[in-house]
Amino acid sequence: MGPLPTIRPRRLRQSKTIRALVRETDLPPARLVLPMFLVEGEKQVQPIHGMPGVDRLSIDEAIRRAEKAMSMGVGAFALFPKVPQEGKSADGSSAIREDTLACRSLRAIKKALPEACLIADVALDPFSTVGHDGIVARGRVLNDETVAVLAKMAVVQARAGADIVAPSDMMDGRVGAMRHALDTAGLTDTIILAYSAKYASSFYGPFRGALGSAPVEAPDVPKDKKTYQMDPANAIEAVLEAGLDVDEAADMIMVKPGLPYLDIIARLAAEFDTPVAAYHVSGEYAMLHAAAAQGLMDYEAGLVESLLCLARAGSRVVLTYGALDYAAWWRREHGLA
Ligand code: PBG
Repeated sequence: MGPLPTIRPRRLRQSKTIRALVRETDLPPARLVLPMFLVEGEKQVQPIHGMPGVDRLSIDEAIRRAEKAMSMGVGAFALFPKVPQEGKSADGSSAIREDTLACRSLRAIKKALPEACLIADVALDPFSTVGHDGIVARGRVLNDETVAVLAKMAVVQARAGADIVAPSDMMDGRVGAMRHALDTAGLTDTIILAYSAKYASSFYGPFRGALGSAPVEAPDVPKDKKTYQMDPANAIEAVLEAGLDVDEAADMIMVKPGLPYLDIIARLAAEFDTPVAAYHVSGEYAMLHAAAAQGLMDYEAGLVESLLCLARAGSRVVLTYGALDYAAWWRREHGLA
């Protein structure tokens, strides 16, 4: 046997208190965003396939859920409306109406909970009969025509009460167009959270199921979102995308999905001073529950580890369907519950 080690990293792991003393990362619930799915009606709490604990909520129920979240330290909410078929059109033009479910919920939640931070999604897919984030013509998703609509959509949602508008569409030039439209409308305080590196991912399955927003199979409709969302093989391109959004005045830049893209999060956090957000998406959340349901792992432990890793990689803000479960754990851990 050689000499015994003098340097023993295990010394700092010997008790819970010492581990807590030297822990590098903490993710308080204040840095989480709870995405919420909205439906028309009242007293609606509709379960979503594959996502236990997540429901489609009518506005009254969304207010209750948000109130509960706020009592646990989670103060930000990303709203995703399920648009009834009659509210959809080929060009998604109903997205810019002032009476959309999204706008009505923004007004109602803001009124009930003025301290809540409300994030409005800016993309056409919930409003599109063909399930694309932009206007489709002759088999293509049009960029500049879509951006013009998205800029209007951002203004309408900001007026309705969105503190943050979040373009999730991946069109070119949308952040600049949106900033210009907001500023021209006097909405200079509205924050832009850009989905800068949004990948064409299979992890969005449960989300599309929840909203009925998947691309439809039809002639002259692209079958997937690969002509606008990014290729999972690319990292340098994420730096290009984020750089453009920062130059166009994005206040925050987002990577999506989360866990499979930790290298991208780390890279953007190193490259830019603009806060980086990560979206722990529906498929990531569903996988944890699916594995736990088979007795293969513990849901809460898996969730906590996933979110801590996103923070460790460099995300300042984390969007997650598990926000309340995480907050409950965090409060227990910190002796607050
Ligand atoms: C669409 C949008 C998607 C998500 C957020 N905004 C789906 C998509 O791009 O098809 C996915 C979020 C999730 O899976 O949790 N603009």
